[in-house]
Amino acid sequence: MCGIVGYLGPLNPKDVIVGGLKKLEYRGYDSAGVAILHDGRTKRVRAEGKLKFLEEKLAHESFNGHLGIGHTRWATHGGPSERNAHPHQVRGISLVHNGIIENYAEIRRELLARGADISSDTDTELVAHLLAEEVDRTGHLLKAVQNILDRLQGAFSIVAMWEKEPDTMVAFKDGPPLVVGLGDQQTFVVSDVQACLQYTKKFIYLEDREIVEVKGAQVQVYSSRGVPITKKVVEIDLSPESVEKQGHPHFMLKEIYEQPRAVAAAMEPHIDTRNFAVRLKNVGFNEPLPGVDSLDPLKDWENTRKILNGVERVMFIACGTSSYAAMVGKYLIETIARIPVETDIASEFRYRHPVIPPNTLVITISQSGETADTLAAIRLAKEKGALTLSICNVRHSSIDREAHGHLYMNSGPEIGVASTKAFTSTLTVLNCLSVALGRLKNAINAAEEKEFVQALLSAPSQLEVVLSYDKYFGEAANRLKLFRGFLYMGRGVSFPIAMEGALKLKELAYLHAEGYAAGEMKHGPLALIDENMAIVMIIPADQLFEKTLSNLEEARARGGKVICLSTGEHEHLRKVSEYYLPLPKAHWTVNPILSVIPLQLLSYHMACNLGYDVDQPRNLAKSVTVE
Ligand code: G6P
Repeated sequence: MCGIVGYLGPLNPKDVIVGGLKKLEYRGYDSAGVAILHDGRTKRVRAEGKLKFLEEKLAHESFNGHLGIGHTRWATHGGPSERNAHPHQVRGISLVHNGIIENYAEIRRELLARGADISSDTDTELVAHLLAEEVDRTGHLLKAVQNILDRLQGAFSIVAMWEKEPDTMVAFKDGPPLVVGLGDQQTFVVSDVQACLQYTKKFIYLEDREIVEVKGAQVQVYSSRGVPITKKVVEIDLSPESVEKQGHPHFMLKEIYEQPRAVAAAMEPHIDTRNFAVRLKNVGFNEPLPGVDSLDPLKDWENTRKILNGVERVMFIACGTSSYAAMVGKYLIETIARIPVETDIASEFRYRHPVIPPNTLVITISQSGETADTLAAIRLAKEKGALTLSICNVRHSSIDREAHGHLYMNSGPEIGVASTKAFTSTLTVLNCLSVALGRLKNAINAAEEKEFVQALLSAPSQLEVVLSYDKYFGEAANRLKLFRGFLYMGRGVSFPIAMEGALKLKELAYLHAEGYAAGEMKHGPLALIDENMAIVMIIPADQLFEKTLSNLEEARARGGKVICLSTGEHEHLRKVSEYYLPLPKAHWTVNPILSVIPLQLLSYHMACNLGYDVDQPRNLAKSVTVE
């Protein structure tokens, strides 16, 4: 969480930094601030709330230096206020921070004992004090950073500048991401490449406990002990337009509408359309890092086959929407490949002393590739000797770099805080993986593989059909806002979709919603049902249709008002539903990809009707880099 931009170069730092922060606002929007060198002194401007309030304040400010740092905050230590906003300044030191300093109480006590004048409630300001003490002693910012690094425990990425070294910024990290953008005579230090894509496509990814010193046009990375390190420069294949709204009122709506394309891009590398077969591409189990040296595709597939053949069990680990995708993955892999699958949320997995039996493939799913708990979980799984595979959207992200094997969502940048296209892209990748495993394990034959592949190939055009019903979802949203609570229900692969639908409504419309397995209703939720409770039933025409229908009747018999999501026209369902939302007829493996769309759009329209900011829901952030 929190977005960081540091800039050193010939352009106007105010414009570059604010422009970068706009691209990073998805990471937090409790307050924002900049510190820019101006006539040899650092001028700081901060504002509580979203970036637009900082922009208003900055409208009348001018700066004539070439070095500056900026920050958009998701509050951890200290409430969202101007006083707690970054950058924090102590004497000539200014710094911005993403993360949490866990031993902050101890550092604060020490600093107070030495007479420090602490002016905010944050852990970040304490780091500024430590650095100020060290530059006083050493007269050198880089040295000062090296000296304090061991004092800091927790998760942090920090960019610092010092008035007495006006051509230098120093950045370091342990946990949250930090990337160095290499431009022409200019350098950027940012939380995410999106912040400076318009200036450069060349990046250095800092690893934990590395320190970078940017001095004029020179960039040098050091180990925490001060040993110079030669880093790989990675070229990123993303256009600046891909992180713009492109005429849509919100990023979320743009991303919902991108799903046919995103789903096609997710399957494209892995589907042999001539033979209707799956060949997982560039999983790179034998590569230490993604994209380092491209492998011969045949050799890669042979290698992947060999490794996957030995897999006897799968464990999925993820958070939020990615964890619901993992639950769908469990149904797909167990049914198609007949391999036992467990799913876990990362924050629980990492602290419950997990047992990982031999020959287990641990799969982490993460759009951002930076979620702190998921990152810790994959590291723990590796420590325990597991083979790991990541499904990420952001290439070169921390989780991607950590995993043995790699599959990509290929959705393109997702900016809306509530995840949409990354979810359906993940379901697509999971379809490919299940079929590949099914064939390797001889659980399905070539004809069955063809059936699954053909079904998946139809998904993009079926998604177009679902999206063309948006008007009806908007109408349904209008009616639904009168309800006080929502129960989302489904069975089989539709159960995780019910969970995801309920999550979307909570995140965006701030309404109480629960996702439940429809068969569990009689074990509690039925007691909640009255005329004020809306029941959203996901009931596609699959092998569980009749069972789910019985659950729907049980709810109706208790006065529940039903919103039904089913396949094609169904006279009875339409008659008994307050609102009936049709889906195209699809294979059971593709149904979840289709049925989540109306739920995304329902939540989107409800949030818009209620006047909420759908791209930046309150209290949330897209990339959760603290545990
Ligand atoms: C945050 C986001 C969610 C996302 C979750 C996991 O809570 O707001 O949309 O599902 O993190 O993120 P990841 O990047 O690991 O998929």
